[in-house]
Amino acid sequence: MTENPESAPSRTVRLGLLGCGTVGGALVELVAERADDIAARTGVRLVVSRVAVRDVSRDRGLPLGDAVVTDDPAAVVAADDVDVVVEVVGGLEPAHALTVAALSSGKPVVSANKELLAHHGAALFELADAHGVDLLFEAAVAGGIPFVRPLRESLVGEDVTRVVGIINGTTNYILTKMTEEGWTYAEALAEAQALGYAEADPTADVGGFDAGAKAAIIATIAFGVAVSAADVHHEGITEVSADDIATARRLGYQIKLVAVAERFDDGSVAVRVHPAMVPDAHPLAAVRDSFNAVFVEGRAVGDLMFYGRGAGGGPTGSAVLGDVIDAAVNLTKGAHASLGTFGEVTLRPQSELPAACYLAVEVADRPGVLATVAGVFGAHGVSIRSMEQVGSDTDATARLVFITHVAREADVEATLDELRSLDVVASIDSVIRVLGDA
Ligand SMILES: NC(=O)c1ccc[n+]([C@@H]2O[C@H](COP(=O)([O-])OP(=O)(O)OC[C@H]3O[C@@H](n4cnc5c(N)ncnc54)[C@H](OP(=O)(O)O)[C@@H]3O)[C@@H](O)[C@H]2O)c1
Repeated sequence: MTENPESAPSRTVRLGLLGCGTVGGALVELVAERADDIAARTGVRLVVSRVAVRDVSRDRGLPLGDAVVTDDPAAVVAADDVDVVVEVVGGLEPAHALTVAALSSGKPVVSANKELLAHHGAALFELADAHGVDLLFEAAVAGGIPFVRPLRESLVGEDVTRVVGIINGTTNYILTKMTEEGWTYAEALAEAQALGYAEADPTADVGGFDAGAKAAIIATIAFGVAVSAADVHHEGITEVSADDIATARRLGYQIKLVAVAERFDDGSVAVRVHPAMVPDAHPLAAVRDSFNAVFVEGRAVGDLMFYGRGAGGGPTGSAVLGDVIDAAVNLTKGAHASLGTFGEVTLRPQSELPAACYLAVEVADRPGVLATVAGVFGAHGVSIRSMEQVGSDTDATARLVFITHVAREADVEATLDELRSLDVVASIDSVIRVLGDA
């Protein structure tokens, strides 16, 4: 689309980028490609006026035009020719101090930084509100998937009860390869690293911390309470075995790393990241490779799913660009999108959460053992939905696989503790929650 000469002249909004790496670089390219179209559609002409990077000497091969490139991000925030600050530096500092400085001086901020928002989100939203400016962060939660804006705007009147996300592409890629190609965890991780999906130190992804930061932001927005990364319970995928994957397939499940943000009737909230057996019929089971999806359950709206690319320069840059346009248009109208205020969160303890579980137990292959083991479940009020013997590793032992009905996690833990103490139980090899109604 080209600018309509009959339309009102566009107002220029000048961008100051803090960072120009994967996301910042993609944004610079998108602004150059799309500026005419955006001006024609919105009346706002975007121009990148300043860019802060660490290494100013590197030729980035980007259409930076007349933009000033500096290694002083604070100067970009303070510059008179910067109207909107785009924080794509990453990490907690200096991103936090720079964001506070920008908002405090009345400049809107667009950020892709999950770490920053998961640690300081509620305070930063209140600071933005106090100064009457936008703080927008679509890219921080699910990369290119428009999810924060629908949650904040379309669903603002909805009673959202639970959000379940596959929001880490690296772990979803690893689990997909283990499931579909029969690779071991180590083989799938090595391939993810070779493809650039996983860092040399993959802990943030495989330990569930990246997904946990995003889940904290989701819970804050969905439930209107201040949830931080420290409030999230994490379990990663490093213990998921080829046996678990094979058993899950046979029983009609896919193993996924899920982030679950949930609000209970008493107002308490739980946010956790863990591997889960997802029934084949659930829409999240079809989310393969490095794709992400977020599944929302609301009392009136029912079930919704948002699906797409959760990372990568293009998808993430696209989400940042959407926010930049919003902030720029709001600026020209003297408006901003308020996030409201955030109450203190009441966290429901992990032990009180309801969960159905898959358990794999290696037992002595002797008469009466099954009744003994089943009796332990019953004694702790954990009812068994299905059980099967999946073959012996040796002549002396048998592997029993249980799926329980929904039970309190504390009762499942007590069951496991007692099972471990039995001499007929050789080992408990796996405990994986089953995604369902609870
Ligand atoms: N990459 C993705 O797919 C993705 C997806 C969703 C969200 N995000 C988020 O987007 C943000 C940016 O990620 P990215 O992948 O674009 O990171 P990146 O490629 O590492 O880029 C970071 C940029 O910040 C600059 N920088 C870092 N510290 C600086 C400092 N103290 N002063 C000035 N410049 C500094 C770097 O300069 P040099 O170039 O000179 O080193 C680089 O240009 C992060 O918060 C990340 O979590 C990324």
